[in-house]
Order: sequence, then C-alpha cells, then structure tokens
Amino acid sequence: MKPKLLRTLAALRRETARWRAHGLNYAVVPTMGAIHSGHTELVTQGLKRADRVITTIFVNPKQFAAHEDLGKYPRDEAGDVAKLGKAGCHAIFLPSPGEMYPHGFATTVSLSGPARAGLEDKFRPHFFDGVATVVAKLFIQTGADYAMFGEKDYQQLKVVTRMAKDLDIPIQVVGIPTVREEDGLAKSSRNVYLSQDERQQALAIYRYLMNAADRIRSGTNPQTAARAAARKLASLGFKVDYVAARNAETLAIPKDSGEPLRLIAAAWAGKTRLIDNIPV
Ligand code: PAF
Repeated sequence: MKPKLLRTLAALRRETARWRAHGLNYAVVPTMGAIHSGHTELVTQGLKRADRVITTIFVNPKQFAAHEDLGKYPRDEAGDVAKLGKAGCHAIFLPSPGEMYPHGFATTVSLSGPARAGLEDKFRPHFFDGVATVVAKLFIQTGADYAMFGEKDYQQLKVVTRMAKDLDIPIQVVGIPTVREEDGLAKSSRNVYLSQDERQQALAIYRYLMNAADRIRSGTNPQTAARAAARKLASLGFKVDYVAARNAETLAIPKDSGEPLRLIAAAWAGKTRLIDNIPV
C-alpha cells in the first residue's frame, strides 16, 4: 500500500475528517523517521486496534540540546515511506519545522512526576519538555483514538501517558514491548552509529539487565543488583549514565518489596548513547 503523504496541518485535518465521516477510528505512531522494525511493529499493533494508522515523521528540534545529534540524525524519507507502506500504514504526516513551530511559537509543556525521576531527565534536562510539547501537538493535531509508543523509551512512555491524562487529551496511549535483534540488542534508529565492535559491546546492556533482574527475583536488593550491573558495564568500557531499579509505573525509587519494578539503563558505547529497560 502507498501511504498518503500529508505535509501540512490542513492536509492532515482533511484526511482525518474524511476517516471520521466514514465512521473509522485511527491510531497514531509518532516517530522521528529512520523507520525500523520497532516502528513497523507499532504500525502492526495500531492496525490491530484501529481501522486506520497514521505515522508522523518529524525530527523535533525542541528535544535536542545544542551539543546533541539533531544535524546528523538519520533521515531517509523515501526508505521510511516504503517501509511504512509495507507495514500497512495508511497515511504519513511529515510537517516542516515551520509548520510545527510557526513564527512566534511560544508555548512549552512543563512536566513533573515521571519526567523528573532522575533518569533521562538528569542527563538530558531539556528533553522531556520538548517531547511533551511536540507529542501534545501531535495528539491534538491528529485527534487519534490510540497512540502507539515503544517500551524501549520507557520513561518517555510514562511521561506522555501522564501528560495526555493530565491535559485531558482523549487518546489512549498504548505501550508496546521492545523489538530486539535476534541477539537481544534493542532496535534503535541510533544503532546505525555503532561500529562493529561497539555493536558487539552493546549486547552487554541487555545481558546485564537480565542478570540483575534474575538476581532481584532471587532476593537481591534491587539497588544492589542495579549498582552491580552498572559496575560490570563500566568494567566493559561503557560510560554508564545510569542503571536503576524503579517502580514500573511512577518511576520513583521503590520503597516496598512488592512493587512492580523496571530495570532501566543508559550507557555510551563510544560516541553512541544507548538506552534499554526490562521488567523484573
Ligand atoms: O521517540 C521518538 O521518536 C520521539 O521522542 C517522539 C515521540 C516521536 C517525539 O518527537
């Protein structure tokens, strides 16, 4: 199927109004492009819930700090359109920066709760306000019934879920388990930056998260297990930003032994920052 390419808000509104007029519901898959099977899985899952799926592709400048990889973020519109079409996506919204943030744009969504858990926010302080601002706009612009997000960006999933609830945006945010390579590496648009050696090294993140989860299930204190995994990764040459065991819903530091837990990690392999997480 060839998805319809919608480059303006007016075109997006015409298309979604047409769907509504036919009594169809729809899911949105927000992305920054560089589509891989993690994204197409979100399309597949969207198609299970809704009559139509629209993917958005917008490399959002507001979520990148000056020193980050905005300029070199991988872009491949033709490849993305082909992959999304193959996955059954009906439409793609590809706004320009000027369409999303017209001259005079002056509003930012400001967050607390899961966005201030001391995880990604500690290392990328600008990040979630930028994400929440663009995602709030995408939710409102598309008016979708469902929003599909990967669990790979676990804190992001919790932040946008909270944001939609707090702002009374009538959309159901759906979290979909991380898609992995056969050897366990979480799919990510940034994996293309890894050298062959770093690609091998990167596998250790998932391995030591699994190891820590096993230890927690066998009775080791979650913080002790997370610290041991961080030490192990550092000894393998990673620059570790964090390995943390957190309440799976609030992302707060767990207090009770019965809380649902999520192990979450971020570490640098060379110049590439990798994130991953697993349930305990
Ligand atoms: O996860 C991403 O690709 C981005 O953070 C998102 C949700 C599309 C917002 O720009």
